[in-house]
Amino acid sequence: MPFDLLSLAHALDAQDTLGHCRDLFLIPKHTSGRDAIYLCGNSLGLQPKSTRSYINAELDDWERLGVDGHQHAHHPWLPYHEFLTEQTARLVGAHPSEVVTMNSLTVNIHLLLVSFYRPSGARTKIVIEKGAFPSDRYAVLSHIAWHGLDESTALVELTPRAGEDILRTEDIEEFLEREGSTVATVMLGGVNYYSGQAFDMGRIAAAGHRAGCVVGFDLAHAAGNLVLKLHEWNVDFAAWCSYKYLNAGPGAVAGCFVHEHHARAFDRPRFAGWWSQNKTTRFAMPPSYDPLPGAEGWQISNPPIFQLAALRASLDIFDDVGMPALRAKSERLTAFLEECVLERARSSGRERVTIITPSDPSQRGCQLSLRTGANGRAIYTHLETRGVVCDWREPDVIRVAPVPLYNSFADVAEFSELLYAS
Ligand SMILES: Cc1ncc(COP(=O)(O)O)c(C=O)c1O
Repeated sequence: MPFDLLSLAHALDAQDTLGHCRDLFLIPKHTSGRDAIYLCGNSLGLQPKSTRSYINAELDDWERLGVDGHQHAHHPWLPYHEFLTEQTARLVGAHPSEVVTMNSLTVNIHLLLVSFYRPSGARTKIVIEKGAFPSDRYAVLSHIAWHGLDESTALVELTPRAGEDILRTEDIEEFLEREGSTVATVMLGGVNYYSGQAFDMGRIAAAGHRAGCVVGFDLAHAAGNLVLKLHEWNVDFAAWCSYKYLNAGPGAVAGCFVHEHHARAFDRPRFAGWWSQNKTTRFAMPPSYDPLPGAEGWQISNPPIFQLAALRASLDIFDDVGMPALRAKSERLTAFLEECVLERARSSGRERVTIITPSDPSQRGCQLSLRTGANGRAIYTHLETRGVVCDWREPDVIRVAPVPLYNSFADVAEFSELLYAS
């Protein structure tokens, strides 16, 4: 390799104080028998070795106790979600009363929009980013229609300047200053799934609030990836999934944040169910609804314990390592990926890809999105057959996510070598 990037990668791995974390995970094998170069934690994170025992503990308690597991399991099922609260709060920079783990991501977005998208008078619009994850767009459109509004006037999709891939924070601020009085709600991705751009959530929340809007984020690509300070940033609401960077398995239970300003906003409409009913009276089964304060007040059903067990296994790892340490490694790992890709382009005299993700670390998470030319699919297939797991997003992007918990600098160097080896 030029400048022997692989030797450099091995040296960086030897100095990596989080290198041992890789051994906490099960790494899929390539058909060659070698570990896959797994750079797809932005889509589905890998399985912690501990997950099986966390789930087995619940299977054992179910076998042993049947229904009594609700009170007498080692981790009783009735309050089980509370065993995840403290770690979740630390993960997203929230107070414990501001978070809850429940449902799946788009379901949580719907439940939050019921309460936090309240068009009225001249303030009817909801703002998302152009190129938001389609599920968010579909969810938002369905709320617009449900309120009897027209998407052509109620939906605003913020678009980068002509010729640019990235939305500038100052343009978002300027838009909100100019048109914020017509906006009910702003809901952006914390990190855009396609470009890998991380938004300045604090500045956007402040700009939205100056204009009188409610501000929320879809943190699917931010939770477990960035250091988040949702409380301090004054974000009104947020939701995220746990199967990407949070490694809680396919279809894992999602997360939800509601700022403590809204903890007792019982006058806001919400969809109800018995799991948000006052815990002290829930089993008296009263006909009247008395919702819990805080984020727990948005729960509906009793949660899936096996899924929560998998999430708990993963959150315990995040809590041991801590987001600041993970993020520090993540910045180094992604900078190394960027440098390897650029160096391979320089030394081969041809540019196979263009990086569309910002190179400023404060404007990205671990993912780099590589725009390919017309032969993008062929490059992707070439990588795939050589044991790289990353993903392809139409029309022309390969997304690559080196995850600090289990990816090595060697993974990154080998990936960039393979990118240029076809
Ligand atoms: C940014 C973003 N939002 C929403 C979703 C949809 O998630 P779910 O199917 O868990 O509701 C995804 C899924 O990958 C996503 O990346």
